Amino acid sequence: MIDDVLLNTAKDYARGRLSEGRYAHSLRVANTAASLAKLYDLDLKKARLSALLHDAAREMGKDELLRIAKEEGLPISDFERERPVLLHGPVAATLACKELGLEDAEVREAIYHHTTGVPGIGPLALAVYVADKIEPGRRGSGVENLRNVAPKSLRGAAMAALEDSISHDERYGRPVHPKSLKTLEWLKSCGGERFDEPKV
Ligand SMILES: [Fe+2]
Ligand SMILES: [Fe+2]
Repeated sequence: MIDDVLLNTAKDYARGRLSEGRYAHSLRVANTAASLAKLYDLDLKKARLSALLHDAAREMGKDELLRIAKEEGLPISDFERERPVLLHGPVAATLACKELGLEDAEVREAIYHHTTGVPGIGPLALAVYVADKIEPGRRGSGVENLRNVAPKSLRGAAMAALEDSISHDERYGRPVHPKSLKTLEWLKSCGGERFDEPKV
């Protein structure tokens, strides 16, 4: 059970660690994630909490992200060693447990995996992943399509968002995170079908 005290503490925590712009993004993701949670019959408070905290480590420097990841025994792939910014989800999830006493496994998963998703991703984490891509401040090609798809199929929106981000990386000659590819593969398989329809 997530209570309002923890939600307010998370808000202050994110505000204290982020620039005004990124804090505003986190609030918009929280509102969007809550709307998706309502539609897909997920826990609204968990959705809000995950979204408030998802980018809490996004403004840490590379060295700090690597240091904390090492100290906390988080897995660091070669891919992440070269691009430590990709550790901001795992580091935020770990700090939320340590510093805010977060115990909820679904919230932890949603924060931890919000950048790439993960094969076997649960519905709450999927909603936060999609909310991060479609919050009202997001611009760019493909966003309108994601906004249209999200209320009809969470899984469909997540697949489209992953495809967009993979082709974006490919277009700019950037290597694609293997976890994004594996998540997309998993969602395309029968594994993600239970997220297909809104519950209300
Ligand atoms: Fe992020
Ligand atoms: Fe974000």
